[in-house]
This record gives sequence, structure tokens and C-alpha cells, in this order.
Amino acid sequence: MTQSMIEIKSPFFLKEETLSSPTDFSAIFGNQNPLVLEIGCGIGDFMAQLAANAPERNFLAIDIYNKGCNKTCNRLEKEGLTNVRVMRIEARYLLSRYLIPECLAAVYINCPDPWPKKRHLKRRLVNRLFLQTLLHYLRPDGELFFSSDVADYAHAVAAALEENDGFDNQLATPISLNMPGYPLSKYMRRFLAQDQSIHFLHYRRNRQHACEAAPPQPAQRGFRIAWSGNHG
Ligand SMILES: C[S@@+](CC[C@H](N)C(=O)[O-])C[C@H]1O[C@@H](n2cnc3c(N)ncnc32)[C@H](O)[C@@H]1O
Repeated sequence: MTQSMIEIKSPFFLKEETLSSPTDFSAIFGNQNPLVLEIGCGIGDFMAQLAANAPERNFLAIDIYNKGCNKTCNRLEKEGLTNVRVMRIEARYLLSRYLIPECLAAVYINCPDPWPKKRHLKRRLVNRLFLQTLLHYLRPDGELFFSSDVADYAHAVAAALEENDGFDNQLATPISLNMPGYPLSKYMRRFLAQDQSIHFLHYRRNRQHACEAAPPQPAQRGFRIAWSGNHG
């Protein structure tokens, strides 16, 4: 997919070429605060709320969408939030190349692309393999928050989490249609305004679960990204 490219000059934006592999994010933030990852931050409205609510945490917001990353940076600057960095990078590529095992206190994935057609289901980001990969990067007790506007996606993720003994459910049921206090993106609010449901999941990495090797990643650096030099 080709995107119209905007050069992102914000101090919140991390260009991949400035990172070492793996990356010490504590050095980037200049503190030892817990690191939280949002995958698919869109235009950054969820992240802005999350980061404002937890100044004692560091946040990394990623998306493959250049315009969205730019909007996210603008929003964070406008709101004076200094505990967030933004990267335009593919999730599986970021994890396998730049993150240290067990470095994440929490991962948020909200309304990932649903790929509703049967022949496209295999393109969905969150599946058994990806959950196994996340376990490798979550610290013991690290949290996974997942939400989806698509019931069958949420049910497939809940089933995969329930059968994975590395994860423990934190809600009364595997899926909840109501998550008090959870920030909502404009995208989520649009569904709720139309009386459609958002399906919420909240799991933690089981403390007893040993950190196994991460499974090999199917995604490459250029997955759905047209790269153009230094333009982030
Ligand atoms: C439907 S939007 C939801 C955006 C946001 N989470 C929200 O609730 O408003 C899904 C987002 O995930 C991003 N995305 C899709 N696949 C991705 C991947 N493999 N790695 C990183 N971001 C991805 C898309 O570019 C898009 O911005």
C-alpha cells in the first residue's frame, strides 16, 4: 500500500535509523519507568488519554500509517505529554528487532484491522502465533488489553488466549462489552454511538510462565509500508 508521505519532525517521533537493535527505551526516556506499547495507535487519541492518566509510565505508540503517526505526534505535543514516543513501524518487526524480552509492562491493541473477508482472515495481526510472541516481550504479570468492534475477531482472540496457559483472564468473562474507565478512541466511540458493541479483553502474563524463545516472525520491515528515505 502506498501512502502519501509527510515528513514527521516532531521530537516525539523516533526514526528507526536512530535506534540500536535491541533498543534500551529507558535511555530514550531518561528514566526507568515501566514501558507500555500501543499497537496501531491510529490518530493517537487513545494514547493521549492513556499517557495523561499515567505520567509514571513510558509509552510507545506505533502504527504503519504515516499520516496517523504525524497526527499522533501533533496531538501529544499540543497536550504537552512528554512520556510518549511514536514510531512508524510494523508491530512484529518492532518486537523482533528492537524490543528486549520481558520489557513490556502492558500492551494495548484497539480495533485492529478486521480483515472481515474469509479469504483475508489470515491477514489479521492477532492470532495464536502473535500472542505467543507477545508473551515473550511482556514481563511476568504484564498486561494485554485487546478490543475489537468485530465480534468474531474478539472471540477468536479470546479462544486463543484461553487455550494459552501463559495468559490469565482478568475479567469475569473472556470478553466484556463494558470496560469502565477504559479510554475510548474516536473510532470506538463511533461504533458505540451507532449502538454497536466494542468487545474488550484484559489478560495478564502468568507469573509462572517461563520466557520461551519468540516464534519466528512472518512480517518484514516493509510490510504494508512504502519506505522513502528519512521521511519516517
Ligand atoms: C482500524 S485502525 C484502529 C486505530 C486505533 N487503534 C483506534 O482505535 O482508533 C487500525 C490501525 O492499526 C494499524 N496497523 C495495522 N496493521 C498494523 C501492524 N501490523 N503494525 C502496526 N500498526 C498496524 C493501521 O494502520 C491502523 O491505523
